[in-house]
Amino acid sequence: MPLVTSTDMFKRAYSEKYAVGAFNVNNMEIIQGIVQAAAKENAPLILQVSAGARKYARPVYLKKLVEAAIEDTGLDIVLHLDHGEDFEICKQCIDDGFTSVMIDGSKHPFEENIALTKRVVDYAHEKGVVVEAELGKLAGIEDNIKVSGKNATFTDPDEAVEFVERTKVDSLAIAIGTSHGAYKFKGEPKLDFELLETITRLLPEYPLVLHGSSTVIPEFVQMCNDFGGNIPGAKGVPEPMLRQASKLGVCKINIDTDLRLAMTAAIRKSFVENPDVFDPRKYLGKGRTAIEEMVAHKIKDVLGCSGKA
Ligand code: G3H
Ligand code: 13P
Ligand code: ZN
Repeated sequence: MPLVTSTDMFKRAYSEKYAVGAFNVNNMEIIQGIVQAAAKENAPLILQVSAGARKYARPVYLKKLVEAAIEDTGLDIVLHLDHGEDFEICKQCIDDGFTSVMIDGSKHPFEENIALTKRVVDYAHEKGVVVEAELGKLAGIEDNIKVSGKNATFTDPDEAVEFVERTKVDSLAIAIGTSHGAYKFKGEPKLDFELLETITRLLPEYPLVLHGSSTVIPEFVQMCNDFGGNIPGAKGVPEPMLRQASKLGVCKINIDTDLRLAMTAAIRKSFVENPDVFDPRKYLGKGRTAIEEMVAHKIKDVLGCSGKA
């Protein structure tokens, strides 16, 4: 069974009011943990690779691991480039066999973002690959680029309509208050659902994407800190807000930080509880199990995509 695009996944997600999880992958244990959970839950799945992941693991390893996951489970999986910053990286991933790429032109002025996105869409569509773009700016850190809260801008609904019409992009990441990393909110967590509803009304049946959607699960932050970590004051998007977004046209929800926290918490605990162990399989295996349990929870209780594969 080959890699698939997200076209049919998003159509069903939109009409049945759930979201597909897009999880960031960097190594074998992360891939196995996520895929195991999706297989058990019979859920649609997007595995996404950032430029940082490509640099860390090398593209060919990640691609082959994802192919192995498909062979092992028979699941439909989308292999997606996360936050492609220019045409070249998107082209490379398309040529390498990715079924979906993100061109993130959100840091550019509107017209430049349109021109860049359109160039990628034209190339991708010719090869049967789908494209995600971004309009509006999220706060937070991604690929070491920091956007401060004051430089974040929410998506303008009229611009979103014009952007989609002119670029023919397949899905659009919007900024409604989420941000990347573990420190999403200074005060109470808040998303602009009114803005989301406006965008959905103006772009009916169109798949929207939410980045920066980790909940920063307190139990994992606590566990990291209980076993020697120091993660102060982290705050993420409450899970009911993600569920609500998934009923309002958000078809793809991106999660990375929660994977990092789950894995790190389990490994920290394992090191402290078993200081004499030096077999990487022992502690990486615990990290992999923690990821599997956390992803199963997201699929069942947050995204609502259990049984939708
Ligand atoms: O949004 C970005 C993802 O969390 C990827 O992070 O660039 O450190 O791999 P990374
Ligand atoms: P988090 O790090 O907040 O989970 O965001 C992930 C993301 O948006 C990847 O593109
Ligand atoms: Zn992102």
